[in-house]
This record gives sequence, C-alpha cells and structure tokens, in this order.
Amino acid sequence: MTVTEILQFVDSLVFTETEKHLDDLQKKIVEEVFKGKTYKQIADIYDYDEGYIGDECRKLFKILSEQLGENINKSNFCWTIERFTNSSIAKIVNFENNFKNNNINWCPNYASSNQPEHQQSTNIDNFKKPEYDLTLAPQIINFYNRETELETLSNWIFKQNTRLISILGLSGMGKTALVKRFIDLNLDEFEVIIWRSLKYPKPLDLLVKDLLNIIKPEDKQTIDDQVKQLLDILINKKCLIILDDVQNIFTPGQFAGQYQPEYQSYQNFFTLVTEIEHQSSLILIGQEKCPEMEGWENELYPIKCLELSGLYDLEIMNNKGLKNHESWLNLINLYEGNPVYLKSIAILIKNIFDGDVAEFLAENELVITQEMRSHFNQLFHRLSPIEQQIVLKLSQFEQPLSRETLRESVELSSTDLINGLQSLQQRYLVTKIKHDQIMFKLSSVFGEYVRNFCKN
Ligand SMILES: Nc1ncnc2c1ncn2[C@@H]1O[C@H](COP(=O)(O)OP(=O)(O)OP(=O)(O)O)[C@@H](O)[C@H]1O
Ligand SMILES: [Mg+2]
Repeated sequence: MTVTEILQFVDSLVFTETEKHLDDLQKKIVEEVFKGKTYKQIADIYDYDEGYIGDECRKLFKILSEQLGENINKSNFCWTIERFTNSSIAKIVNFENNFKNNNINWCPNYASSNQPEHQQSTNIDNFKKPEYDLTLAPQIINFYNRETELETLSNWIFKQNTRLISILGLSGMGKTALVKRFIDLNLDEFEVIIWRSLKYPKPLDLLVKDLLNIIKPEDKQTIDDQVKQLLDILINKKCLIILDDVQNIFTPGQFAGQYQPEYQSYQNFFTLVTEIEHQSSLILIGQEKCPEMEGWENELYPIKCLELSGLYDLEIMNNKGLKNHESWLNLINLYEGNPVYLKSIAILIKNIFDGDVAEFLAENELVITQEMRSHFNQLFHRLSPIEQQIVLKLSQFEQPLSRETLRESVELSSTDLINGLQSLQQRYLVTKIKHDQIMFKLSSVFGEYVRNFCKN
C-alpha cells in the first residue's frame, strides 16, 4: 500500500463527508502521520504550531470515523486505513461479516492501485457509498475454468448494458457459483448489489419491499409506487440484483416456465425491467427457461441468456481423494461434466473403491448415488405428465430418437409431443442434435435414473 493510495482513499472519504478534497496541509498531515511522525515533528517540519496540527488531525480523524463507522485516532490510523483498503478478498469477508450483523452494508469505492491514474481520480470524484447485501450468496473457495462465461457476463453487463440476464442450466451445473464468482471479481463496479433466493418464493410486493428496504428505506404505500421507486434507483445507480432459484415461481407438474398464479406479477416486473431504460442489471438464475425468455432474446430489448453446460476440466476432480489421473476425463464425460454429480460420485469412489477411478469405470455402470436419486425424484415430479411419458420412452433407447420415431412409440398427439419436447429442452433435460435428421437426446445420467427408478 503506497502513500498515494492512502491519500486517495482518505481524500475520497473526506470528499463524501464535506464535498471538498483534502487541502495541502491536510495532505501533508496524512503523509506524515502515515510515516509515523508525531504532531510535534509535523509542526516542526512545516512550521506550524503543534496544537494547530493536533486540532487538524483530530478533525480529520472525526470525519474518517464517521465514514468508516469505527473510532479512528492517531494510534490506529495506519492499520485501520490499510485494513479497509487492503484487498478485494478482505473487503468481501469484511463486508459479508458486517451484513450478517447489520443486514445493510457499504464499502468505500476507493481507487484501486492497478487502475490507470485518470480512472483513479474519476473514482474519487464520483465517490459514493455502495450498498451490498450478499448474505444469502454462497462463499466460493475453489472455482475453476468458466473464463469464457465470466467474460461473456462482463461484456453484457459493462459493455452492452444488458438489463436482464438469465443464467440457466441443469441443477448442479454451477450457475450460482458462476454468478457469485463474477461478483467477487467485480465488486467495485457496482453501487448496489443484492442477492436474493426464491427457493422459498414470496409474492412480488414483498420482494420489492425487501429490496427497497436495503437500498432506500421509505414507506411507500402501493406496490406501483414501490416498483416505480425501485426502477428510479435502477436508473440512478449502477445496481446488480440477483434472484437465484427462480424455477420455484413456476408451477410443478406443468410445462417449464409457467408462472404460479400467485407469482404471475413477476412476469410483468421482469418485462418492466427490460423495457425501461436504466443502467442496472437483473440476473435471474434458474433451472427452467420461461417462454418469454425465448421471445425476449431479440434486438429490441437488452436481454441475454447464458446456458451453462458441463464443466470438462480435470481440476474439478482435485482434492477429492481420487487416483488414476488419466481416467478422470472419462469419469467427467460419464457424468456429463456436472460438478454436483461428480462430487457425489467421487465420494462413492473414495469410500467403495478406495479412490480407484479406473476400477470404478471397469464396472461399466453409470451408478446413480442416493444423493442423485433423491435429487432426480424431485426433478421428475416437477415434470408434466406429457414430459414424463416422453422421458420414459427416451430412456428406453441408448441412442437419440427422431420426433417421428417418438411419435410412433408414445401415445401423444403431435401437439403434445412437440410442446413436451420443447419444455424438456427448456429444462435442459433433452438436447436437440442435428445430423441428417433432427434427433432428441435425453441427459444420460437422468435417463439412467428414469430407467432404474421410474415406472413405465
Ligand atoms: N467452476 C466451478 N469450479 C469449482 N466448483 C464448482 C464450479 N461450478 C460449480 N462448482 C461446485 O458445484 C456445486 C454446484 O454448483 P452450484 O450450486 O453453483 O450449481 P447450480 O447450477 O446453482 O445448481 P442448482 O440449480 O441446484 O442451484 C457447488 O458445490 C459448487 O461449488
Ligand atoms: Mg444454484
């Protein structure tokens, strides 16, 4: 940490409080205090009265204390400032701890040392208090690969100002991990970041109230006023709002992406977020693509959809107690690069095969662990009866099937079959393969589960 960085940081805090930058004397005082000089030494160097220097210092410390929410004095000045400016990791940890205590948090948007100088001064001038609530976001310790996806997200959010982004894919593919990783890398770029999960969904008005509570606690009466206020914030501040587990607002037992009646207003809200011009982004993370997403993905509105496929990276198998490095890729291919399936099967191989991957593969069996089974049970029961029929049929064949072959072997009307296939694609359970003919392929791990555990 250099003196310049300390000065920039202190200057940004003072500017926020007083709307004035450090004057020359204040700048010198900060430099000398940072070097460990006493008030008397500073007074002697710059030919001031010792009492006057002391008063100036105390004024500065008072401003800094108010801005940082900690009591700052001469004896703790250097370390406290370093602590607040040290590194992104330190910030995340520090702020996440604070969220847990206060629910709301902010950190100074200080100029980072590796930014070009012209950007640093802009940062200071534009200094604002960011507000983050990442209490519900997971902490990411090991994260591999996905550079392309991270780059794509950066492009959409920072270059194309995409207002609505959906991150979609099968359960366990790493959607949540990817978005949290993106935030960890770009924390300083937003004034507001809020992470919410819809695992236990709530009606839209409660969600909007909850978001406003964090950004701007004010008691607006009607949902319309609240939504308007939220949109105003999206216009005026660079916000990133994440809604995870969005599939829970859709209806189980029906085609993918059908809103439950009590959550229907989310559809209007998502449309509003895309139609109104603002500088923020809303990220929806989910396992089901809602039909509007297809229609929305056009040039008219800034909307993007990132569909996560398997992670075919050997590193993901590190530190899992596995042997036979040369067989790991085969194992990853067998489990379709799904990090959660791979975690589960790695534990089983470690316990039963003493970590010998080659011996496990020699069994020539796609083993479904208990963990996978209970997870697939839930997934199967979310499917509509039409999709269940199609999945049962597809699972009986090793090879992908054409629509015509399927049509001959299931008792479904052409419309039902087509809609069912579309819905299964929107859940990432079935993929379309183009050879001479268009074929439909069921996820092989899910197919194995259906073959073994679902009645025809
Ligand atoms: N790129 C990655 N590097 C290392 N681990 C990963 C990576 N992506 C995902 N994981 C790990 O895989 C597991 C599943 O990831 P995650 O929870 O993000 O999946 P998901 O797609 O959000 O699943 P769900 O739809 O069920 O919420 C987590 O333990 C996560 O840490
Ligand atoms: Mg998730």
